[in-house]
Amino acid sequence: MRAAPVGDRAFESAIPAQVLDRIQHGTMRTTYRSVPFYKSPFDISLYLELLGALAPRTVIEIGTKFGGSALWFADMMTAQGIHSPRVLSIDIEPLSEVVDPRITFITGDAKRLDAVLPLDLLEALRHPLLVVEDSSHMYAESTAVLEFFHPVLETGDYIVVEDGVVNQLSGEQYRRYENGPNRAVADFLAVHGPDYEIDADLCDRFGRNATYNPNGWLRRR
Ligand SMILES: C[S@@+](CC[C@H](N)C(=O)[O-])C[C@H]1O[C@@H](n2cnc3c(N)ncnc32)[C@H](O)[C@@H]1O
Repeated sequence: MRAAPVGDRAFESAIPAQVLDRIQHGTMRTTYRSVPFYKSPFDISLYLELLGALAPRTVIEIGTKFGGSALWFADMMTAQGIHSPRVLSIDIEPLSEVVDPRITFITGDAKRLDAVLPLDLLEALRHPLLVVEDSSHMYAESTAVLEFFHPVLETGDYIVVEDGVVNQLSGEQYRRYENGPNRAVADFLAVHGPDYEIDADLCDRFGRNATYNPNGWLRRR
């Protein structure tokens, strides 16, 4: 399924398909402090850039898996000199054994975030906020996360929708996502576009959408 371009921005990544398949192979074997950590080399660099520029006080990721990314975010925030960094990491089926005072692991469903992130908790979060949607990569979950955080985000906050690139991976197993993340971003921006800016500097840093998150680095205006 196609995702409608946002303005002049198509969702296709300039990374050639064969190269992308090989990068994916390596990404799925990546670890951080011995914990699996599923970020591509492009996105590790792009997140570092964003963490430095934004200096988020809070990172909220949807999709913990083994906790490698939560640990990496917490460590990189500390390395950037961010005071009292906080990471909330939510998963419907967390497998993390990571224990770290900077990280709160929460069991919850991307489609029912209101059940685990009540208003008083959201209001107490320190901004800037970086929200990372890295859950099922299905349209319904990506859309639910975008819509849930839309009223929570303040000017300058970021929400990153991960892994739209799955649509360009050749393996049959990736077809089941039905281009979920890209379609969710396109449909969300069709409604809320004036409130967001696609950070083209990040998306295109290494080539047009040379990221696992094509058109997925969104800055709240
Ligand atoms: C790609 S992994 C997360 C990888 C991790 N963020 C990293 O970079 O190392 C996706 C995770 O999303 C979780 N997930 C799938 N559907 C979900 C849902 N509806 N709500 C919350 N988490 C979900 C899965 O259990 C899985 O652990």
